[in-house]
Amino acid sequence: MIPESYLAPIHEYTDMPFRLLCQEYGAQAVCLPLLNTKALINKPKKLGQMVDISALERNAGVQLVGSDPVLVAKTARLVFESYPSTEWFNLNCGCPSNNTVGTGGGSALMRQPQRIADIVAEMKRSVDTPVNVKIRIKESFEETLQMCKTIESSGIDSLIVHGRTVKAGYSGKADWQMIKRLHEEISIPLIGNGDISNDREGRELIKNGLCDSFMIGRAAMKNPGVFRNEEPDGVRGRRKLLERYIELHERHIGPPHPADVKVKGVNFVTGVPDSAALRDKICRAKTVEEMVNVLADKE
Ligand SMILES: Cc1cc2nc3c(=O)[nH]c(=O)nc-3n(C[C@H](O)[C@H](O)[C@H](O)COP(=O)(O)O)c2cc1C
Repeated sequence: MIPESYLAPIHEYTDMPFRLLCQEYGAQAVCLPLLNTKALINKPKKLGQMVDISALERNAGVQLVGSDPVLVAKTARLVFESYPSTEWFNLNCGCPSNNTVGTGGGSALMRQPQRIADIVAEMKRSVDTPVNVKIRIKESFEETLQMCKTIESSGIDSLIVHGRTVKAGYSGKADWQMIKRLHEEISIPLIGNGDISNDREGRELIKNGLCDSFMIGRAAMKNPGVFRNEEPDGVRGRRKLLERYIELHERHIGPPHPADVKVKGVNFVTGVPDSAALRDKICRAKTVEEMVNVLADKE
């Protein structure tokens, strides 16, 4: 059985303390944000800085970006040997950023489904743990299905599908009808992703046969409580979330960098009255303590 609820990988946001926070609220699995295989292989001494995985995380996956089957597989082995608590590996095939696409990785791979299959097959040979990929949909169902079938032939364990095209970026709505049709056609577990607000919504999608599991990204950035269908209670609830993030950071890594706390604080205040003014104050605060005080003063 694969887990049902996943926290999505969000570059420069879903660090280990944040992932642990989401797990406290019920996220059953988490995925580390993208790691560049070339950077990892070229600077093995920096492995500890780049892979911030903890044995306390449950069902934690490491996401790699790359386009060379041998290099990606070698990196996966290096990570697996150094961090045996890695429960699964993911190949990023959906990142639309120019930096990633320029290296032939991320969404550039969707133009070459056979290459995705080759990379996965090589990864499967080098690590003794499940491997999946995260893709976006293509313009037509037929093209998307063909790509999924090719990927499926690699022996992959599951498939994460974000229901938007590369061209759409993050605009418009995720196409859940397309995800549902893919789910009906492929035989490996499908983890659906795109615009899910909370655990309740995700479970409804599973119940209605649209996917086997669900992955939440942006809604969890604003409120890790979405994994328990919980809204934080006003400004006080937001402060508690921020304090818990800081506490987890201090306990497992050390004092957090103010920039990491700032970005969390700015997201957590979404939805409270006067959130724009609060955001502004958090952004102007210099220290972690000042950021927390912005919220405490407003209670
Ligand atoms: C700021 C930001 C950073 C992201 N970083 C990654 C990443 O590192 N790897 C990845 O596969 N997807 C990344 N994504 C995509 C998300 O994982 C997810 O697929 C997307 O946000 C759709 O899900 P949602 O509607 O629940 O947010 C990122 C998205 C955002 C908004």
